[in-house]
Amino acid sequence: MKNKRGFASDNNAGVHPDILNAIIGANKGHTIAYGDDEYTRRAVKIIKNLLGDDIDVYFVFIGTAANVLGLTAVTRSYNSIICAESSHMHQDECGAPENYSGCKLLSVPTENGKLYLDGIKHHMYGIDFEHHSQPKVLSVTQATEMGTVYSKEEMDEIAGFAHDNGMIVHMDGARIANAAITMNSGLREITRDVGVDVLSFGGTKNGMMYGEAIVFFRKDLAPDFKYIRKQGMQLASKMRFIAAQFEAYLSNDLWMKNASHANEMAQLLAAEVENIPEVKITQNVEANGVFAIIPKESIPVLQEKFFFYVWNEETSEVRWMTSYDTTPEDIARFVQLLKKTLRQKKDT
Ligand SMILES: Cc1ncc(COP(=O)(O)O)c(C=O)c1O
Repeated sequence: MKNKRGFASDNNAGVHPDILNAIIGANKGHTIAYGDDEYTRRAVKIIKNLLGDDIDVYFVFIGTAANVLGLTAVTRSYNSIICAESSHMHQDECGAPENYSGCKLLSVPTENGKLYLDGIKHHMYGIDFEHHSQPKVLSVTQATEMGTVYSKEEMDEIAGFAHDNGMIVHMDGARIANAAITMNSGLREITRDVGVDVLSFGGTKNGMMYGEAIVFFRKDLAPDFKYIRKQGMQLASKMRFIAAQFEAYLSNDLWMKNASHANEMAQLLAAEVENIPEVKITQNVEANGVFAIIPKESIPVLQEKFFFYVWNEETSEVRWMTSYDTTPEDIARFVQLLKKTLRQKKDT
């Protein structure tokens, strides 16, 4: 069966050829296992050049592990973690953050995927009261699960509040590259410079095969993290293959090229559908996702030819994600089918 293309997830795209070549390039002879190798040293150095020398960087296999282990490292089980209701860690990690860290997740309802101060403050009670879990982390996702992007000012406000209250700021950066492109900023400017303490630095959604990095911007936060990673089953023996991917990803502007393209494709898709009367775009298109309400009956017809997920069954809201390999032709074919389907519906 021919693989269906579509807009289900940026994870549905394959591996960028430069990344695959880097894996092949690293597949030479023997190296010391578990990260004590030249590839890992080089990749860590590149990340330090981007984000600052005084940081700790650890590679893991998947994004859920980056979130869960990063959070576990900076909390005790009596702590709580404040996050958006729509966040991946709250919706899509099968309770792993709670299971591993023991912490309570306190979710904030949100219209656009972002945490905001009033929602956070709602959970700020029972401080120093032993019957109540103690809020310790604010976790934001950048770009958010709803395709929006926190501005620097929004981040400053949230991070300022967290730090004033003795809390730590965690950023789920599964799509940090897309956010950096949108903000026309470097990775450092939108992470540590706006108060992020722990970053889940994603690569898989933007062309890598697998592999994420956990970055601690304060070395005192997790001096014993190597044990937490090993206990968390994320210490790769053949670490060089994650490291080689990061090296290629962060060289020759690959991460920027891929994310720019994905973002441009989302803009193109939004521009193509926004004037269709039956389509209502529901979120600002700020990264590589388009959220829209479309007539319910058209969804299965479209899904026969293109993968995508329904975000909200009740409102018939769908999520269309673009990726580094989405083409203008993919979008043209999809929009053509969408228009045809809506026309046929009118005629019946
Ligand atoms: C916002 C966000 N964070 C983290 C992840 C990491 O997921 P995984 O554990 O599948 O790599 C995802 C993947 O969908 C995501 O969308």
